[in-house]
Amino acid sequence: MVYRGLFDERKGLSAPVRAAYARDGVIVLEDFVSAEQCQALQARAMALVEEYAPQAPGTVFSARDQRHAKDAYFEASARSIGAFFEEGAFDAQGQLCVPLARAINKLGHAMHDLDPVFQAFSHGPRLQAVAEGVGLVDPQVVQSMYIFKQPGIGGEVNCHQDATYLYTAPQSVVGFWFAIEDAHRGNGCLGGLPGAHRSGLKQVFRRQQGGALQLETLQADLEWDMQGLEWLEVRQGSLVVFNGLFPHLSEPNRSAQSRHAYTLHAVSGQAAYPASNWIQPGHMPFNGFV
Ligand code: FE2
Repeated sequence: MVYRGLFDERKGLSAPVRAAYARDGVIVLEDFVSAEQCQALQARAMALVEEYAPQAPGTVFSARDQRHAKDAYFEASARSIGAFFEEGAFDAQGQLCVPLARAINKLGHAMHDLDPVFQAFSHGPRLQAVAEGVGLVDPQVVQSMYIFKQPGIGGEVNCHQDATYLYTAPQSVVGFWFAIEDAHRGNGCLGGLPGAHRSGLKQVFRRQQGGALQLETLQADLEWDMQGLEWLEVRQGSLVVFNGLFPHLSEPNRSAQSRHAYTLHAVSGQAAYPASNWIQPGHMPFNGFV
């Protein structure tokens, strides 16, 4: 069973908690943030949807340049704020069939640097202590995502490793997944394979010589044993911390409740950060938690 407990405000992560993280590649820190903090972040996310979604590509169906526009918008969001639609939000004619607030899959990928409310939520000595506790040296926050997992249409996320999308040498990526609302089997909570992080990275998404981003398979014969799947049902305010190599997934949200989550990904400032990563610091250097 994955470790669950409260964050020790005085001592940080104790030796047994660190050992659990090393063993499983994941820990759950319950009540890490308050309900008020979650509600404030949620309200701000909804305001950002109002601000950014109208410019997001996706509302015109089957245009030939749509793919290109979507790719360009995605890449531009690396160090800015973009809104991304749920596939199930459109009807066969390409028209939105749910209200805008219910149509967005996620916001990404630099709210933590650009928006004051997200910036405050994403920083501080407690997060620094967790990051150091799981082994990050000079942690640098590379990306943020606010995931809506909308009621009824929130899509499935297949089993993957976050280090596929953000990698360093040696591997140092750590995911910080905040439950902004309760997450359970009914509304598409996280599930994962404790211990499977020790088998290494299966695939990597990186920029090729010609500039295109592509998924490459590193270990073609690595098969994850789904018998070991553990569901991580958590209450609002919980923080799930996981190794970039921890395989995880979530089911579609077929319930009437949303399942908002906020994620941060940090890397060690001492690890090499290849230029082939899709997110590059560009005009805005990466920053730490403090
Ligand atoms: Fe993930």
